[in-house]
Amino acid sequence: MRLKNVKGAKEKIESSSYLLLNPEEYKGHFHDVFENEHPLHIEIGMGKGNFIIENAKRYPEINFIGIEKFDSVIVRAIDKLQDIDLPNLRLIRMDASHIENVFDHEVDTIYLNFSDPWPKNRHEERRLTSTPFLTRYDSLFRGDYRIKMKTDNRKLFEYSLISFTNYGYELSKLSLNLYEDELIKDNIATEYESKFVSLGKPIYFVEVTKKK
Ligand SMILES: C[S@@+](CC[C@H](N)C(=O)[O-])C[C@H]1O[C@@H](n2cnc3c(N)ncnc32)[C@H](O)[C@@H]1O
Repeated sequence: MRLKNVKGAKEKIESSSYLLLNPEEYKGHFHDVFENEHPLHIEIGMGKGNFIIENAKRYPEINFIGIEKFDSVIVRAIDKLQDIDLPNLRLIRMDASHIENVFDHEVDTIYLNFSDPWPKNRHEERRLTSTPFLTRYDSLFRGDYRIKMKTDNRKLFEYSLISFTNYGYELSKLSLNLYEDELIKDNIATEYESKFVSLGKPIYFVEVTKKK
């Protein structure tokens, strides 16, 4: 993603009631943030937020947290949330390489949408589906593990399928062309997804699960 320096982004983000400024403080008791025991779904690398915001609107009985590392990107999600009241949504600005410090056995589903592919071998550990990340995710899940991934990148997809299965995940649902298969009912598109679909590119999708 090309990053622009967005003037005033930091101040705008930090004054938003959607942002959890010190997320480590809620580790193990995120239900206090939402004041209910609803399932918790998180998206890592949410970008400009369309997916997580639309999910929060559509599914009020699920709590959603969007995670993004860059101010200049998360501010776009904050802009979209002006004048919208979604009590089941929060955002966290952080690099997910420390995600095990934030959640403790309280997440039900992780979404990885159009994650950065990091094509060079020497950057493998930065891929959000690499073994180091899958290891970090272990302590996040409350019950059975569930990860849902969408991407336009065939190589990242193939890499991830191998990484997931080597780590003990089962492939529960898989599509090599999500829009043709209509595998997900009421699919919610991300910003990247809308762009790739308009270019006629196939969208790869996999849902993987692992028993606790
Ligand atoms: C290619 S963009 C896709 C954004 C969005 N999911 C979509 O589909 O439109 C990947 C996003 O993930 C974020 N990201 C990448 N690695 C991350 C990490 N380790 N922690 C948090 N965010 C990350 C990037 O900053 C970027 O906004």
